[in-house]
Amino acid sequence: MQNLQEDIIMKQENKNAFGMIGLGTMGSNLLQNIADHGYPCAGYDNSPEKVNALNALDNENIEGFSDLKKFTDSLARPRIVMMLVPAGEIVDHVIDELLGVLDKGDIIIDGGNSHYTDTERRYQELEGKGLHFVGMGVSGGEEGARRGPSMMPGGDKEAYEMIKPVLEKIAAQVNNEPTVAFMGNRSAGHFVKMVHNGIEYAIMQLISESYEIMKKGLGMDNGQIHEVYKKWNQGRLKSYLLEITTDIFAFKNEGENDFLLDNIRDEAKAKGTGKWTSQAAMDLHLPTPVIDIAVSMRDLSTLKSLRVQASEMYPDETEMKYEDRGADYCDQLEEAFYFAMVSAYAQGMHLLYQANEEFKYDLNLDLIAKIWRGGCIIRSEFLEDIYAAFNQDPKLQHLLLDKSVSEDLKRSITGIRTVVSDAVLHGIATPAFSASLTYFDDFRCENMPTNLIQAQRDYFGSHTYELKAKEGVFHTKWVMENIKE
Ligand code: 6PG
Repeated sequence: MQNLQEDIIMKQENKNAFGMIGLGTMGSNLLQNIADHGYPCAGYDNSPEKVNALNALDNENIEGFSDLKKFTDSLARPRIVMMLVPAGEIVDHVIDELLGVLDKGDIIIDGGNSHYTDTERRYQELEGKGLHFVGMGVSGGEEGARRGPSMMPGGDKEAYEMIKPVLEKIAAQVNNEPTVAFMGNRSAGHFVKMVHNGIEYAIMQLISESYEIMKKGLGMDNGQIHEVYKKWNQGRLKSYLLEITTDIFAFKNEGENDFLLDNIRDEAKAKGTGKWTSQAAMDLHLPTPVIDIAVSMRDLSTLKSLRVQASEMYPDETEMKYEDRGADYCDQLEEAFYFAMVSAYAQGMHLLYQANEEFKYDLNLDLIAKIWRGGCIIRSEFLEDIYAAFNQDPKLQHLLLDKSVSEDLKRSITGIRTVVSDAVLHGIATPAFSASLTYFDDFRCENMPTNLIQAQRDYFGSHTYELKAKEGVFHTKWVMENIKE
């Protein structure tokens, strides 16, 4: 097994311990992070500019290559090669090239945001060829890659044990523990990272809805909104996403009077991981409405010209500003945000639970919450509670059924009901807040109205129904004689 000591021996032999393919900002930053920890590293990119930029760093532990063979020849065996290239066909292309220069026993790590089904396929193919494959989610953006990301490796456990010393050193640390751990079998790492991103979409949507309420409902300016987020970020909502949002509400470019935020177009882009989360959830018949609505609202935001036409056709029918709301309204908004945020995490964790059942990943939900507490985009104070819940009861199926979480959630119900109903009455769109509440109201509903859906399906399509008092499936001829009006 390879460890730090052996890596140092490699250095003496002039071999590199770690190779990176893809020298964009993420790849270059992660490589510098690894080099900072004493590992001699090699970087490869087919763009000569990127290789030159890497060599221009003049880091004694980093060597940039434009030739793939020379790059892999520079690596100690078994060779560890990580790819940080855009997800999709490029990954397959790089793997094909690597197959020509790597040997059995070498390790390929895909650190991009690959779709888990692609990782599943690549894992099987490479296993058949005797190569180790690790599909690894990396979160934390460019800064995280440089200073300490959260990493979600999955696939080949044997290979993970070999790369673990490096990963544990470069990861962010929470309570002196690294934010990296082996997630589970085959595509588990990329599935977990995908759900991380789904939760990321949901929380970003919730923050933007709270901004809308403060701006349009309460008539607050950016400075006041900044103060609210700053306060929230000092309490139980403390999180990376609120921290950066607080900064955004105070940011002006040098020499400019406007807040940059006010000059940014309202059409949100998306690379697709949020959509994948919703698609996977639908395929597993597992409801994640707060994530789903976050994906849909990004899509709606891009329909700018339609929205402009509709805004002229359907102007606000009420005076937008809330009246007679005291200064404590933002406390209710905090409660509502807390409630909806818990729901977003709960739905993501539930999806992981279900995927684990279906795909036999061997996930540990507490471990996932644990490594999300630092380095990644959704890191937050609340992840401590999630970790505690799943750690205490590893079989916990749904976070909302944890006693301690439920007690805090119950105290936030008045807040979410007030905030959602005010928004509805004033024509302010809060789809993710609303989705968290309606999900909750149906989740806690012993008897949903879906008996009617079963009756309708049977009426028009003979799809059958089941009875409360009798086993079996039944069909009725819903004939007029039996319809008593
Ligand atoms: C992370 C981020 C990262 C990426 C997002 C952006 O965990 O570091 O999630 O992976 O910045 O995927 O996603 P969108 O472009 O879809 O918003």
